[in-house]
Amino acid sequence: MLATSTSATPEAARFRRRLMAWYRENGRHGLPWRLTRDPYAVLVSEVMLQQTQVERVLPYYSAWLERWPSFAALAAASPADVIREWRGLGYNRRALNLHRLAVAVISDHGGELPPSAATLRKLPGIGPYTAAAIQSFARDQRIAVADTNIARVLARALFGTPTGREVPAGALSDAADALLPSREVRHHNLALMDLGALVCGSRAPRCGECPVARLCAWKAAGYPAGKTTSAPAPRFEHTARFARGRIVDALRAAPATAAELAAMLPAHHAARIGHYLQALEKDVLIAPAADGLWSLPPRPR
Ligand code: ADE
Repeated sequence: MLATSTSATPEAARFRRRLMAWYRENGRHGLPWRLTRDPYAVLVSEVMLQQTQVERVLPYYSAWLERWPSFAALAAASPADVIREWRGLGYNRRALNLHRLAVAVISDHGGELPPSAATLRKLPGIGPYTAAAIQSFARDQRIAVADTNIARVLARALFGTPTGREVPAGALSDAADALLPSREVRHHNLALMDLGALVCGSRAPRCGECPVARLCAWKAAGYPAGKTTSAPAPRFEHTARFARGRIVDALRAAPATAAELAAMLPAHHAARIGHYLQALEKDVLIAPAADGLWSLPPRPR
């Protein structure tokens, strides 16, 4: 069992050896954000990948970098253009945060991302995962990265639970730290990520293809169930996120009144139009314009 292993134990070394042999053959080495160490490009990719699948991100990533290849270029863009370019990726607040972050990097940090994970996390839209990803993927620092896929792999292999949710966060990150190799940490992190995405999937793990199946605590325990998930998620069309996305989509094309925006929503959302507009204005994703119109936000003065 690997649960109490540290990087120095033979078990941990075996785990890493098998993982890396699998990764050399099967890893997603050609993903464009893995072929660069430019912190800006890595950051753009990680923000896009936060809530969006790899295949969907690919065309947005290259178009974005072509249009805004640096923090300086992005900082000089208007928030409205940034929101328009994000169209189709969802979770629009990510676009605005990226823009705000670029402005902060240019005005407060001399054009460079700050050096430590702790200072990175003070920037808009950067949580613990994204800060660690920048340190590892752009800067080759010896730091564990734990997205949902990696957390699931570690939870299964080391703790015998089906997902990371059943493991106290501190225990999971201690185990991730203990498993780090002394060199090639970036590839170790990417290998765990790929194993989680390609083999150790959330629904149907392919243990027959897994290089560490024989070391896996969850498999050894007979795949015990974890926490049952709470109430099923509502249909997307019934969520506030759907209505807010539709409103921003409409304003990407042209300014509109509240009544016009309400008219293009299903009745149950139309009745809440004032509430949605207020929330979007608070997030600075939209702004009131002349003549009772709403629009995408103007440039800050
Ligand atoms: N490579 C580096 N970061 C990644 C991510 N978040 N998702 C998929 N592949 C990646």
